[in-house]
Amino acid sequence: MGSRLSGKVAVVTGGNRGIGRAIAERLAEEEAVVVIGDLIDERSPPVSSLKSLAILPLDVTKETSVRAFVDEVLQKFGRIDVLVNNAGIVVHKSIDEQTVDDWDRLMAVNLRGPFLMAKYVAPEMRRIGSGAIVNIGSVEGFMVNPWHTAYAATKAGVHGLTLGLAVGSI
Ligand SMILES: NC(=O)c1ccc[n+]([C@@H]2O[C@H](COP(=O)([O-])OP(=O)(O)OC[C@H]3O[C@@H](n4cnc5c(N)ncnc54)[C@H](O)[C@@H]3O)[C@@H](O)[C@H]2O)c1
Repeated sequence: MGSRLSGKVAVVTGGNRGIGRAIAERLAEEEAVVVIGDLIDERSPPVSSLKSLAILPLDVTKETSVRAFVDEVLQKFGRIDVLVNNAGIVVHKSIDEQTVDDWDRLMAVNLRGPFLMAKYVAPEMRRIGSGAIVNIGSVEGFMVNPWHTAYAATKAGVHGLTLGLAVGSI
């Protein structure tokens, strides 16, 4: 008997390494067609571990990039059943050392990114009548780490976004 993910198309943002890569590989083991979206350039070339993983360029902070990525996935794979919003960054500084640029970058990657991805993937899930969006939050969205104040704010935001998507927006 095939896995319940057999033939499903799963998108994992930030899956070129780390936790996202582990999620992508596990989904592939469950026979999903997995598409990783990540920042791909000469400093971060795509890391190919399994033939069943496709890796496409994506910057989750940019609306044009998210739209182009979603269009490309739909054109190549026909549907999106699972979205894992995993791409994230952390800045390890005290509040005094944190800059406005740090704050804006954290908000853009960790919070605007999942919002934009959900915004452009949800209509496709509605079209096919099913789908699952998994947002990677953090225990730091509930707890205190004095070196991660801005990061904690983004993750608390991700938890709020997730509740909103779950009860209303989809
Ligand atoms: N590592 C931990 O202990 C931990 C704990 C709790 C939650 N998390 C969360 O898990 C997720 C993954 O963390 P990780 O430790 O594997 O991180 P990582 O730094 O190892 O990998 C992050 C990936 O995201 C990609 N990325 C960064 N900016 C991007 C952008 N603008 N567009 C597309 N991709 C982008 C990177 O290129 C990289 O491949 C993050 O959301 C993080 O906040 C991590």
